[in-house]
Amino acid sequence: MIHQTLKPFPKDFLWGASTSAYQVEGASLEDGKGPSFQDTKKLPPGTADLTVSVDHYHRYKEDIALMAEMGFKAYRFSISWSRVLPDGIGKVNPKGIEFYNNLIDECLKYGIEPIITMFHFDMPAALEEKGSWSNASSSEWFKEFARVLFENYGDRVKYWLTINEQNMMTLVGPLIGTLRVPEATTNLTKEIYQQNHHQLVAQAKAMQLCHEMLPKAKIGPAPNIALAYPNSNRPEDIIAEQNANAIRNWLYLDMAVYGRYNNLVWAYLEAKDATPTFAPGDAEVLKVAKPDFIAFNYYTSFTVEASDGSEQIADKFADQQSAMSEPGYYRSVQNQNLKKTEFGWEIDPVGFRATMRALYDRYQLPLLVTENGIGAYDELTADGKVHDPYRIVYLREHIVQIKEAISDGVEMLGYNPWSAIDLISTHEGIKKRYGFIYVDRDEFDLKTLKRYRKDSFYWYKKVIATNGENLSD
Ligand code: BG6
Repeated sequence: MIHQTLKPFPKDFLWGASTSAYQVEGASLEDGKGPSFQDTKKLPPGTADLTVSVDHYHRYKEDIALMAEMGFKAYRFSISWSRVLPDGIGKVNPKGIEFYNNLIDECLKYGIEPIITMFHFDMPAALEEKGSWSNASSSEWFKEFARVLFENYGDRVKYWLTINEQNMMTLVGPLIGTLRVPEATTNLTKEIYQQNHHQLVAQAKAMQLCHEMLPKAKIGPAPNIALAYPNSNRPEDIIAEQNANAIRNWLYLDMAVYGRYNNLVWAYLEAKDATPTFAPGDAEVLKVAKPDFIAFNYYTSFTVEASDGSEQIADKFADQQSAMSEPGYYRSVQNQNLKKTEFGWEIDPVGFRATMRALYDRYQLPLLVTENGIGAYDELTADGKVHDPYRIVYLREHIVQIKEAISDGVEMLGYNPWSAIDLISTHEGIKKRYGFIYVDRDEFDLKTLKRYRKDSFYWYKKVIATNGENLSD
């Protein structure tokens, strides 16, 4: 569909950007915070630890002021569960509550809407010891954590996200260090999908509680959605594409929205003797709970062809966006039409439009983009500048596609790319930078931690000021 003229962005469109607690805050054991999985996991060799990250905990006022200078209408950040509840359950940490009160108030002072992710890869270590998401009680732990958040922040926070990238934790979590599975696991697929089931129930309980306690608030899931393409028009490749979309994308949202397991995924789990066990009450809460919108992270699309089952498990995973095959169901292949980032992720702005269209078509709920962006080796020049034209190009090309999607009739709430400020990547350290704001630190040398405005900072400021009408340099 070629539009003669594109529709404008809605006037209350939530322009902003995202971060997550463990990737920016630091202060990993300060002011009563308990350790999380991120503080106890084995770090990928050659990458920074998370004790300081980019020191957002101590510098949030300066950081929010910079976001306000860019004109942010929203800031998406996550709450560290073990900062608020050091043991994950039970005793509340007043200093932790205070920190997020201050952060929320600082945003509101500038008219920035806080969008809160309740869980972003950082299970409290005390709950890790109890089996983490493998424990059937985990959905109740999460519900109680949600209650603490709604009680303390519900008077000011309108937008809530349940679990960040649950699908990526399930598909690549143990490899990129965002999820742990017990060592004694005999059927890995079963174990992981049981954890996934507990997360789905946890999410449903949180959505239900949110609607009970905060009737004016809105809540939704936040998976990483990359539409799968077939590599050719071979009918077998179409079947592979359907398998890939079901396993990678639809499972998570079909459950959140319709309260049912996707039938292709259920068949896949049956074949692997890996269907999850339902506890009493699970089916009911999954059926009843509903999201108000769909938040999603998009970095690129995903191309697959038929699999003969011969792929090696070793090449099954690389990371969130690169190779990911499922032997017998689909084989991941490179898309020859697309360029790649310096870190090997394909770049597909048109795939972003296709993904928005598919999501809206399938679920008919408003969409909120909670991540999108380019990881790169940015360089600070001697005169304190960061020239990142590649980031401007990447973001511009994706924003144009949101306009296309809006013109296609897709309801869009906002755009919050990754990331507001440089932060520690999931498994590739601080050298892989995403922010509009540069932070002066290296992998192992904390340097000054001073903030610098990148070229993309000034560009995004203009984009927001014109509500997405002026995307030029
Ligand atoms: C998403 C996560 O997977 O993508 C973020 O929600 C992450 O936490 C981002 O940082 C970029 O991925 P990476 O691996 O480059 O940090």
